[in-house]
Amino acid sequence: MRDAVSRIVDAVAETAPEVRAGLTGRREYETDENPSGEQMLAADLHADQLLEERLLAIDGVASYASEEREDVVESGQGDFHVACDPLDGSSNLKSNNVMGTIVAVYDEPIPAPGSALVASGYVLYGPITTFVLAREGTVTESVVEETDDGVERRVVDEDVTIPDDPVVYGFGGRVPDWHEDFEAFVREIEDELKLRYGGAMIGDVSQVIEYGGIFAYPSLTSAENGKLRLQFEGNPIAHIVECAGGRSSDGEQSLLEVEPDELHQRVPVHVGNTELIERLEAALA
Ligand code: AHG
Ligand code: MN
Ligand code: MN
Repeated sequence: MRDAVSRIVDAVAETAPEVRAGLTGRREYETDENPSGEQMLAADLHADQLLEERLLAIDGVASYASEEREDVVESGQGDFHVACDPLDGSSNLKSNNVMGTIVAVYDEPIPAPGSALVASGYVLYGPITTFVLAREGTVTESVVEETDDGVERRVVDEDVTIPDDPVVYGFGGRVPDWHEDFEAFVREIEDELKLRYGGAMIGDVSQVIEYGGIFAYPSLTSAENGKLRLQFEGNPIAHIVECAGGRSSDGEQSLLEVEPDELHQRVPVHVGNTELIERLEAALA
């Protein structure tokens, strides 16, 4: 039998075609807001329910947490704790642009530090459905396909590594809300790299991983910790980028070193080529 972490990863990949198929007809907003005070789409809730059901059914999964629910759901057994962003970039659904599903597997109860991650990954619902997984220091990319035998993952890159020469950048938040030191850093970067920003972290980070560069959703004058959430977005994406040879930062230290104090806490996110993240940290010092 496959180990619990592999079964968790399998379950997320196997659920992806259903999440994707369920997007059609779920583009309307729900009346309730999520715990971060954001409007939820029917698609966010559908993906969350599917993942909760599939992941909690696995022997070894002690708990499930998600951006879309207030509290952690516990199973009463198991050693692994799974945190999901069921649909990242879901506001892109109305304009039919890219979105993803993010999964973080911790071996400590959530909220947990990134150092407790044993695997992390994302599904990218682009023109094709891909699955990127970081485990044991290596990142792999697979294509997710539905076949007569069920959902299959075909590995297309068994050692995903960020290229040395960076090409793209994408930074979130309104420019007038950026801090002065961050804006000065951006002005330098603009001279060197080309802008790619699509409104779904997972799509933007995927470009950074493929072409090299930097993605950030920084601290804002209107929101000191930015927008992205540590458990569901910051930690797993940092783990993937670091396993692919890059670096992550909250502005001062690796995101994987940030001590969590709250399930839905937000954190400034900067990820990309090591050299660019070092320059960013020097610029913010
Ligand atoms: P989610 O849909 O899970 O709430 O995440 C959206 C996040 C992230 O994916 C993206 O980088 C950012 O919000 C985009 O925000 P803006 O619309 O402010 O650019
Ligand atoms: Mn998200
Ligand atoms: Mn989401």
